[in-house]
Amino acid sequence: MILVTGGAGFIGSNFVLDWLSQSDEAIINIDKLTYAGNLENLKSLKDNPLHIFVKGDIGDANLISELLNNYSVRAILNFAAESHVDRSIHGPADFIQTNVIGTFNLLECARKYWGLLGEKDKKSFRFLHVSTDEVFGSLAPQEPAFTESHPYEPNSPYSATKAASDHLVRAWLHTYGMPVLTTNCSNNYGPFHFPEKLIPLVIHNALKGDPLPIYGDGQQIRDWLYVTDHCSAIRCVLEKGVVGETYNIGGCNEKANLQVVHTICELLDAKKPKSDGSSYKNQITFVTDRPGHDKRYAMDASKIERELGWRPLQTFETGMTKTVDWYLNNPQWTENVTSGAYKDWLAKQYV
Ligand code: NAD
Ligand code: DAU
Repeated sequence: MILVTGGAGFIGSNFVLDWLSQSDEAIINIDKLTYAGNLENLKSLKDNPLHIFVKGDIGDANLISELLNNYSVRAILNFAAESHVDRSIHGPADFIQTNVIGTFNLLECARKYWGLLGEKDKKSFRFLHVSTDEVFGSLAPQEPAFTESHPYEPNSPYSATKAASDHLVRAWLHTYGMPVLTTNCSNNYGPFHFPEKLIPLVIHNALKGDPLPIYGDGQQIRDWLYVTDHCSAIRCVLEKGVVGETYNIGGCNEKANLQVVHTICELLDAKKPKSDGSSYKNQITFVTDRPGHDKRYAMDASKIERELGWRPLQTFETGMTKTVDWYLNNPQWTENVTSGAYKDWLAKQYV
């Protein structure tokens, strides 16, 4: 079986659901259930014996070692992280703890476990680390997209901790010979996306009649990928990726933030028109920019396509339509995650 960390979060839960929809190999899912972890995402697996959920911290060496040994794990997929750039600006400590120290702990537990495996299992074992395009820094408008050999130039506490974890993974390959793989992906969107991030926040605020906050001039560019395409890329790298290699994953969908928000508003105008006939675009509000805001990310995903045959299935248009439909059809999910502590976050960030 495989061990997934952070499998109750946005991408992790999509990955677990996606995996079990097409494989009969079991998953142990370890997640600390921070504010971003949500077991409701996995409720369709309630009676599925192939999904074993364990509430726990990737920094807990005893727990991780116990799980690896008890379940004869053949691969670890590390999704667990503190993932929100704005939160990392307000409080970087949790990011150091989970993203750096947590990954270090996971690598050490994996190394001990892997070292004691028989030759065949040792050879086929994999540690797949899920990372981000943000480790490469920010691109100027005409610069080519990030390739795997682009220098690391992280600019936020979040991206610096992800870069640190990528370097640890690399070192565990070169020093100890651990069979690692790293994926660096662009911005994901889709179901179960916590409404602190741009796309779900804008859908949520639009439907509530609240302002749609655009940082700065809204001309920052991100490369958007529908989340199940990220999941298929990870499955592909786990299956066919060459040990020690890193793979960039992206949607080839560079959009300015304002353009993304306009798309959401247009979809909502068509699917759930406001009673007064006005457009959701009227709710757009320009707010103070994010400190150190990266101007542009773009991924060159030609290596994974050329060497492993992966390509995204969704275009920005199909993915955005699916996403807006999902939020319109699942108001209770959003309702459940936007009470209490979420309101405190909004008050802190959008004061
Ligand atoms: P998320 O914040 O939605 O989920 C993170 C999950 O990790 C949560 O379920 C949380 O409870 C869990 N977690 C946090 N700390 C933990 C700990 N110490 N031990 C165990 N579990 C812990 O994040 P996401 O958007 O799903 O991102 C998943 C991974 O993918 C992250 O590593 C992130 O850096 C990476 N990534 C995200 C994106 C994106 O656009 N969201 C893009 C590229 C890469
Ligand atoms: O690029 C991959 C990364 O994408 C992941 O590694 C991160 O985990 C993930 O959170 C995401 O980071 P971003 O900072 O790009 O995503 P976010 O949704 O927070 O912001 C997207 C863009 O929208 C960014 O330029 C900031 C802007 N923004 C965001 C929010 C929340 C706004 O203009 N207003 C907002 O209220």
